[in-house]
Amino acid sequence: MDVIPTAELHLHVEGALDPELLARFARRNGIAVPDLDPGRYVYADLQQFLDLRDSDLAVMRTEQDFFELAEHYLAQARAAGVVRAESFIDPMVHLQRGVPIEAVMDGFGAAFAAARADGLSCDLIVCFTRDLGADAAQATLDAVPPFRDRFIGVGLDSAEVGWPPALFADIYARAASEGLRLVAHAGEEGGPDYVREALDALHVERVDHGLRAMEDPDLVARIADEQVALTVCPLSNVALRAVPDMAAHPVFAMLEQGVRVTVSSDDPAYFGGGVDENHAALRRAGATEEQLVALARNSFDAAFVDDAERARLH
Ligand code: HPA
Ligand code: ZN
Repeated sequence: MDVIPTAELHLHVEGALDPELLARFARRNGIAVPDLDPGRYVYADLQQFLDLRDSDLAVMRTEQDFFELAEHYLAQARAAGVVRAESFIDPMVHLQRGVPIEAVMDGFGAAFAAARADGLSCDLIVCFTRDLGADAAQATLDAVPPFRDRFIGVGLDSAEVGWPPALFADIYARAASEGLRLVAHAGEEGGPDYVREALDALHVERVDHGLRAMEDPDLVARIADEQVALTVCPLSNVALRAVPDMAAHPVFAMLEQGVRVTVSSDDPAYFGGGVDENHAALRRAGATEEQLVALARNSFDAAFVDDAERARLH
């Protein structure tokens, strides 16, 4: 099956850390190689995945590690049909481990700049790790101005319940005043209120996941009316048990109800593959080629690009 050209708008670069890279970075940095049995990639919920991801990240220490991880994602993404990548990074997770911010921002930034020079449309979005709290998010926003040319926006990720969007309202207002684009994870674990709050308190331009918005018909009508994009990640949602199985994934209802829904891979090394594998899983669950092409068109409409670039992507 041919790949479907798409914009991948919901991808955590750290989530591309596959067993081969884990082993390479661990050896290079003199750290014990983690147990790489495939059984490690089974989760009861979001937190179990986050715990595994965090312990794996212990192998990442140097700018070269960050560069190679991003380079690896970008090469895989191109092969999967990605023609525009807007990719999340979580600097706070690394700073907490004592990695200097220069290693993170310069390593990731240089790989994205190299891919751009090589013809791939791609940009970074700095995520606030919400369960580290608003003060840490503020400290991150304070730390990144020297790297302002490395990223285009801010996002909010990690454990959702107990960390409602409004906690970060002042930080988002400041990011907006600095010309940054705004997105946030909401409605993956949290209910429709979290999605509504991301729109009303943070003024996000897209919602990452947004699945549980579907529980509230008024909210769905608003999202469809305002054409707020939802970046859903089908394999992630099944792996983390946000949905029971692929056939029950709300992406089908979202399309039917006129929501600007897009498909991305979230953390490809942890959930079974890239955006091409997500398309394949949707096909197996009954998605038609027309539906997959509609999802890709939505991704171009939802991308943070100018009109000329959008026309080129379409
Ligand atoms: N949800 C929240 N935080 C994350 C995810 C996710 O799916 N992936 C990486 N960080
Ligand atoms: Zn995510």
